[in-house]
Amino acid sequence: MGGTAKAQRVNMRYTILGRTGLRVSVMGLGASTKFASLKGNNLPQAEGVLSKALEHGINLIDTAAIYNDSEAILGELLKNKERESYVLNSKYFPVTDAGQPIPVSDVRMSIERSLSLLKTDYLDILQIHGVRPESYRAIIDQHLDTLRQLKTEGKFRFLGITETIKFDPHHRMMKMALEDDLFDTAMIAYNLLSPDPETHILPRCLKQKVGVIAMTAARPTLSVNSRLEALIAKAKQEGRIAPDALPDSKPLNWLLDDSTPTVAAVGYSYVLAEPAVHTVLSGTTNPSHLIENIQSALAYPLSEEKRQRLQSIFRTPPHHEPWSTYDL
Ligand SMILES: NC(=O)c1ccc[n+]([C@@H]2O[C@H](COP(=O)([O-])OP(=O)(O)OC[C@H]3O[C@@H](n4cnc5c(N)ncnc54)[C@H](OP(=O)(O)O)[C@@H]3O)[C@@H](O)[C@H]2O)c1
Repeated sequence: MGGTAKAQRVNMRYTILGRTGLRVSVMGLGASTKFASLKGNNLPQAEGVLSKALEHGINLIDTAAIYNDSEAILGELLKNKERESYVLNSKYFPVTDAGQPIPVSDVRMSIERSLSLLKTDYLDILQIHGVRPESYRAIIDQHLDTLRQLKTEGKFRFLGITETIKFDPHHRMMKMALEDDLFDTAMIAYNLLSPDPETHILPRCLKQKVGVIAMTAARPTLSVNSRLEALIAKAKQEGRIAPDALPDSKPLNWLLDDSTPTVAAVGYSYVLAEPAVHTVLSGTTNPSHLIENIQSALAYPLSEEKRQRLQSIFRTPPHHEPWSTYDL
């Protein structure tokens, strides 16, 4: 999807992650299930992504108890690095298959297992993972005291929460969480195809000094042209996008320039330009993509004109439901 990256070196930028006071790189590494699949013979690839990330100044690493072997792989690869040199986020999954909060003994067990796999005594940020709006209140009621206790014991430094990208396109859970103001960080599903958080969620995060970690900036739809073309065709067909809003072929290639050769890379720079976003995760498993993403996110000045054009096309139009970033 585009030309070739200029072989330029960009110095990583750092920022303070809201009220946590943590100094984090503006791009973080998302080590989710795709990363976790890089085990066995593919372990050198995981090592390659992680070492490129660290070499280029990324100091924020995101994982979760339910990302298969991600924590175990990271634990092995990070074991000789100075613990203070990186900021480590993990998550526990708060509900059973039936959607009920897990017992507090399981909350503790999950966190202790994460620490053991990651070969560390503490997490910088513990996040409650993928919380659905309908479960939010019960989770808080049943888990908060235990989480506070675990924090007092030094198992983690800051508490965060993450959205479910599949079941909450209105970001209803995050609105509740911001209302309660219990969380130091918020992981938000946000990308140029789904910019709605800009109008209600992100300004509130900024006001409350919540550390914002953006996820889903590229997703398969921004990284695979055939998927993007199919999405745009469907959106036109359903009247969500005007027929002449974008070309049918390579619909977002007008965003590319010399320093940003792919639409996926533009995705990261778009998200990072939003003032409330402190850091954007890249979930790539390809070291070259990672470098391209870092370069683009840091170097590409997406003009206000292009940004506004994207917003006018992709903000949810009246009488339409927001599309879930899960499908993007
Ligand atoms: N509810 C939650 O808590 C939650 C949900 C989703 C994600 N997350 C976190 O957020 C992180 C990032 O989200 P995400 O997994 O949706 O990742 P993402 O960064 O939005 O997208 C990753 C996908 O884009 C592709 N890609 C990235 N850069 C590319 C490039 N320059 N050229 C071509 N393809 C490129 C990757 O393929 P390649 O591997 O081939 O590069 C991969 O398929 C996750 O790793 C996880 O840590 C949390």
